[in-house]
Amino acid sequence: MLLKSSTHSAKEHSLGRKGFPLRSSGLGARGYKAVTFPQLSSRGILQQRSCFTNSSTEEVAEETTAVEKRKVVDVIMNGAHHARGDVAVWKASIESSAPLLGDTGTRLEIVVIDQDTDRRSPPISVDDWRAPVLEIGPGSSTARSGGSSGSSSSGWKREGRLPLPADFRTPGAVLVRKLATAEGDSSVDFIGTIKLVSANKVFHFPAQSWVSSEHGWRVFFEGTAYLPAHTPPSLRDERQRELQALQGTPADRTQPRRPADRIYWYQTYDDLSSAGEGGYRPALGADVRRPYPRRIATNRGATPGTPDRELPPPKGEKPWLPYDEQFSFDKAADFNGDTLTAALPAAFSFIAEAGDQRHLTWLNLLPTAVRGLVNNLLRAVFKYAEPPAANFDNFEDVLAFFGVDADSRGSSMSPTHLYPAGAGAAMKGFGAAHDPHKPAPFKTASGAWDFRLDSTAAAAINNQIAADRVGPVYDSATGGPHAGASNTATATTAFAATAAATAAGAPAAAISAPPQPGAPSLIGRLGSAVWQRLTNDPSHDINDLLYFPVPRVLDGRPDAWYADEEYGRQALAGFHPTAITALKQLPEAFGSAIRPHHVQAELQGSTLEQLVAEAAAGAKPRLYLIDHWDLSAYWQEAEEEAEAARKAGRKPSSAVQHAGRCLFYLRKDEATGEDAALVPIAIELAHPGTHKASNGTTAPLPPTAGLVYARSDLVASPKTLAVWRLAKAVFRSLDSSIHQLVAHFNRTHATMEPFLIAMRRQMSVMHPITKLMLPHFRYTLNINRNARASLINAGGIIEKTFSAGPFAMRLASAVYGKSWTFAGQALPVDLRERGMVDAEGRPWLDYPFAIDGLGTWAALTAYFEEYVALYYAAGDAAVVEDAELQAWWNEVKIEGHPDLVAFGLKTEQQVWGFTGPIARRSDLVHVLATIAWLASGHHAAVNFGQYDFTGLVLNASSLVRRPMPAPGDAAYQELTGAALGPPQEKVFMTYLADPFSAVQVLATVKLLSAHARDEHTLDEANDFIVDPAARAANRNFIAAVKHLESVIETRNADPTNWARYGLAAGTAAPLPYTLLMASSPPGVTMRGVPYSVSI
Ligand SMILES: [Fe+2]
Repeated sequence: MLLKSSTHSAKEHSLGRKGFPLRSSGLGARGYKAVTFPQLSSRGILQQRSCFTNSSTEEVAEETTAVEKRKVVDVIMNGAHHARGDVAVWKASIESSAPLLGDTGTRLEIVVIDQDTDRRSPPISVDDWRAPVLEIGPGSSTARSGGSSGSSSSGWKREGRLPLPADFRTPGAVLVRKLATAEGDSSVDFIGTIKLVSANKVFHFPAQSWVSSEHGWRVFFEGTAYLPAHTPPSLRDERQRELQALQGTPADRTQPRRPADRIYWYQTYDDLSSAGEGGYRPALGADVRRPYPRRIATNRGATPGTPDRELPPPKGEKPWLPYDEQFSFDKAADFNGDTLTAALPAAFSFIAEAGDQRHLTWLNLLPTAVRGLVNNLLRAVFKYAEPPAANFDNFEDVLAFFGVDADSRGSSMSPTHLYPAGAGAAMKGFGAAHDPHKPAPFKTASGAWDFRLDSTAAAAINNQIAADRVGPVYDSATGGPHAGASNTATATTAFAATAAATAAGAPAAAISAPPQPGAPSLIGRLGSAVWQRLTNDPSHDINDLLYFPVPRVLDGRPDAWYADEEYGRQALAGFHPTAITALKQLPEAFGSAIRPHHVQAELQGSTLEQLVAEAAAGAKPRLYLIDHWDLSAYWQEAEEEAEAARKAGRKPSSAVQHAGRCLFYLRKDEATGEDAALVPIAIELAHPGTHKASNGTTAPLPPTAGLVYARSDLVASPKTLAVWRLAKAVFRSLDSSIHQLVAHFNRTHATMEPFLIAMRRQMSVMHPITKLMLPHFRYTLNINRNARASLINAGGIIEKTFSAGPFAMRLASAVYGKSWTFAGQALPVDLRERGMVDAEGRPWLDYPFAIDGLGTWAALTAYFEEYVALYYAAGDAAVVEDAELQAWWNEVKIEGHPDLVAFGLKTEQQVWGFTGPIARRSDLVHVLATIAWLASGHHAAVNFGQYDFTGLVLNASSLVRRPMPAPGDAAYQELTGAALGPPQEKVFMTYLADPFSAVQVLATVKLLSAHARDEHTLDEANDFIVDPAARAANRNFIAAVKHLESVIETRNADPTNWARYGLAAGTAAPLPYTLLMASSPPGVTMRGVPYSVSI
């Protein structure tokens, strides 16, 4: 495919255009020595030819006469006999999982290095091979491509014959380069796998990398893994040279990045600010007040006057990312990761404008031309004069988000009310007629919310999305082939013509003709078949994203969300199961206001002191705590900024950031004594106003304490039951913030990134640990880039829809500084530190996340033990002597996660579990299992349940808009004094997210909870692994993972597992815990464990 010409100079790459790919003398990367080349003689045989290798490949190639080239072609095309003289003709193929576009698969040259003879072939052009074959077909919907796997049913393949010296026996590496066009334009190709076939053996070279004409020669090693010391001597220099290319020179680390660059280095999170007033966010990282892991360096330079604020990328361009970290074509074409930056802003712009929500500024994120298009369409499509409802009318109104398609999904949507059936006459007003639905944007006549867009508006966004997600390289490499609406429109027109031609006869899979000269750039680059895939796939319709199926927390169990038993169950098996701790000290010991009288009535005859003392002595805990007091950290700063905003005439955020704690009791079945349910018994809440004299309570509270809402005090009266339920909702909102910022973004997305950067820089792709771990980092840098652009940035979705607002990421940083340790991320350690397991490491109670998670942990550990033993057969000493491994580990600590130790917040021992190098095989296994667990099981557990739990505002509202009422204040009176039923529900809903915040959250979590079509889950092979014994270990792992799935199914079917199955009798159907079952089809499935953090 063609790319815009670049101004790269060869010296900026250690494999520059003129950097002939020869072995160095060991005197330095560029200190070439004389080597011997086989060259084709005039008699058509290869003879030894000596040359000095400080000349370039081009120069050597030029010396090959035209006659010689013809002879080579002769051998290739007509070589019916396998060997002719000193030449043996091998078969060769290159497979790519990227689409066949433009010049794809052409102007590639390869050189083969023989590992035994230490010689290399002359450059051989693949242009003499058979033409590339396009492989796009029905199978492509399930194909995996790019990044991690060699198996794919989409993309292209090219085969041909390869004349090699007859004594070549063991090709150890293949050098590949892509030539620029005759016009000098840059060009790229994705090389998946190279295969060389001799008379008796097949050699696989798992490349999985983009090769640009900017790169010069690239090396791809045969799939055998080697520790550094075991590297075949003939490949050592190439191994070193490839690492140096990825490391760059010290000067390269801070140079501005160009699209084809492959240099990995570290940078702070100084890219979260947005333009305009109020858009500054302090950089995270390299600051004792704001410690944070590093991200990949993009080096756009600092904004003048604000050194910790990186310049934004040029308008219309995405931030730089190495090609090899970008989404594959299939992933990018999916309604998935890239939609964060494409579909959501566009869709929300429409919705916000149509709803007259001036505080939403998504439109500003669009390129100017697109913004103009959007505005024109808005005027044409939407004619609403009334602002939308600021609140949900009642609970039924919340449920009206779902099941617009009532025929198929509406059966479970009977109204859910604040009070359970049978509350009797006290429920005055229950079910009373309430206001008819007011006309409002996005509401149907029947009162259902319907955010789906008019077909004209949807088509405009769909085309924008298609142009925005054409995949790796295409957009970032060219600075955007889709610079604006006009380009998109042109492309669409061009596509329509091509599509008509297709309809006239040619099957889509056969469309492989290169684009017409002079065709519009976008269609030219994409090719009609690919564009057709992007625009015609019904799953790529923006309206698909804006349709909300019933979340599983409601499906078949519409009344479950308010049950206290379900509230406790979700602490063990919900979207955030990693926060709960066993209570082993009295609440006053950590500053809480919870006292025995708040909970005594709930404890089935025990006392608070007694249960705490028993747990502290090692008995089974019966009291559990979730403590989110950390959320109070920015009250002061938030108040100051709100005041500053008011003075500047800006509207401060209407969200209220509470801090809080929730105390749970593990209730016993009175008859059997068995565990029956985990129920919340006291909720402690505070907000910035709680500690002021005007708080409505009798005395000011210390900063560590809040108002206590005791279950036993509140549930007895239908009047105050709403207060208890509101306290639960407010606390769940805090839980939702900590979930998103800490359990999800901090612990997986942010902390994983430096491990990959260090791995790319320090451990060769030949290294067995690299091969083992690369799948665990697939797409992580891309999804993190998208998150920084649209989710966690100033004005991004998190700030807009979570109570922490502009302080969200500062809170994330504060919690990282206070609580994060790598050592504590290992699941068994995490559970032990939270007191959730007994002395043998077994969970005290039915804790599905822990029980299933320990199964995943055990499978990972057994796999890594077997694998590590294969390569470090010499024992611990081999680990100690592995220079690449130790350099990786050291760099993770020093460059990737430096702040905690460098600023003295923690010791190296505390953060990493041990000091210095990795000294033992067992330590290595533990380190690798911890990383793999975070990237796979932990992330899956906190990511793929988001839609089905947090999609329901009633179950988890990201936003709290009013302070929790205190006894005696007017708000308390308003809530408890309202007529029961819908009127009281209306008051209740003024505290939680409004419909327009809710729809943003719903659309976002629907995206985040979806598996892409090219997902790579733990039950699938790691195709980087080639060695037979290692592949056997990988198969053993897959078998263990599949067995675990069947075990989980059995657990879910057992009614005695109350946290998976049981709830208060009669209230609801069971909700099995499926989040740690490895396999999953595409879509929002509430199951499936990908190897990596990729969404
Ligand atoms: Fe995620």
